[in-house]
Amino acid sequence: MTTVAKGLEGVVAAESAISAIENGMLFYRGIDIDTLAERSNFEEVVYLLWHGRLPKRSELDALRSALLEEARVPDDVLELLRRAPKDAHPMSVLRTAVSALALYDPEADVMTEAANIRKAVRLVAKTPTLIAAWHRLRQGKEPILETESAFTAERFLAMLHGQKPEPEAVEALDKALVLHADHEFNASTFAARVTVGTLADLYSGVVSALGALKGPLHGGANEQVMKMLEEIGTPERVEAVIREKLERKERIMGFGHRVYKQGDPRARHLKRMSERLTAKIGEPHWFQMSEAIEALVGALKGLKPNVDFYSATVYHSLGIPRDFFTPIFAMSRMAGWTAHILEQYADNRLIRPRAEYVGPKNVSYVPIEARG
Ligand code: SDX
Repeated sequence: MTTVAKGLEGVVAAESAISAIENGMLFYRGIDIDTLAERSNFEEVVYLLWHGRLPKRSELDALRSALLEEARVPDDVLELLRRAPKDAHPMSVLRTAVSALALYDPEADVMTEAANIRKAVRLVAKTPTLIAAWHRLRQGKEPILETESAFTAERFLAMLHGQKPEPEAVEALDKALVLHADHEFNASTFAARVTVGTLADLYSGVVSALGALKGPLHGGANEQVMKMLEEIGTPERVEAVIREKLERKERIMGFGHRVYKQGDPRARHLKRMSERLTAKIGEPHWFQMSEAIEALVGALKGLKPNVDFYSATVYHSLGIPRDFFTPIFAMSRMAGWTAHILEQYADNRLIRPRAEYVGPKNVSYVPIEARG
């Protein structure tokens, strides 16, 4: 009897040179996430993940120009958004719209590395536009498609809110995008690799990843964290509500991790951002509740916050609606997904594990007349 690794826990599925999780620290191409969070920016991290090294100034400027140039989305895809039900979940809308982008990309099925890099640029450039467009369309407003900013965080906030964002908000979102950009073989990245492992196209790989990220055990957790905080309402109610959830064997969203058992290094940065930003908007109780939940879940379950816990109050403080939290995660992880897809193509082997069969054997075929 083979020992099944449930959820592939502990299984090393392939070699990768993109990001590493070692001794409780995360590294992108060998640079630790603390350094990147403090000193880098999203576009530089996109280049680093794709090309394996930090860009020269000219290369970074060229990438920013390419992203700005590719930020528009085809009118037909916008038309698809216009017709979408206003109560559709933003992750379902994003998954559908990204899938539709492939129909209007003449290189969608071109498999050269150069074409795949160009498609990766289009996806990183257009995802923020799609998310911001949906936010405005579902409110009955016209999308804002052009902004002069070559900085993804600034461009996104300008398209989302229809006004130039404050520098502190841009800096916070840019840091959150750096923190979420890649994470080894997480479920959505592995879904992308399994998909393109068949030599399917890059868009197909990204659509698989979007589907996987939506789930509350993965990227969907950040939205559930905000929902939980809104249900709790005040720091005084934290203990009663959390104890009740744990007694009902409920998962506390934003806590625990398959790999990090001593805490998620990204959570430390997001916690500091949450404290600063919730105070800035005059709503410190969100952070106070979060800290109280962290202390209680730590004491009762020995679990620590993951990337999704404090990111919820960071995004709330930036005026982002909670059902857009996972799309923001996707906007950043688009960099990691496409980097892993490029790596999978370069060193490809069909990903096809086995199953331990536990169903019935030697079953006879009974003609339908004799089945009662
Ligand atoms: C992300 O993998 C990545 O890298 C993902 C990610 C990335 O950057 O891509 O880091 C992003 O997805 C972060 C995780 C977001 N999801 C959540 O916050 C949802 C809540 N967390 C859990 O469901 C859970 O912690 C997972 C899914 C994150 C990890 O689950 P595992 O590794 O499969 O652990 P498990 O389910 O086997 O739990 C082990 C024990 C269990 O207790 P027992 O049944 O053995 O008594 O810990 C308990 C679980 O019940 N437990 C929790 C819990 N997480 C684990 N109990 C309460 N609340 C929780 N959140």
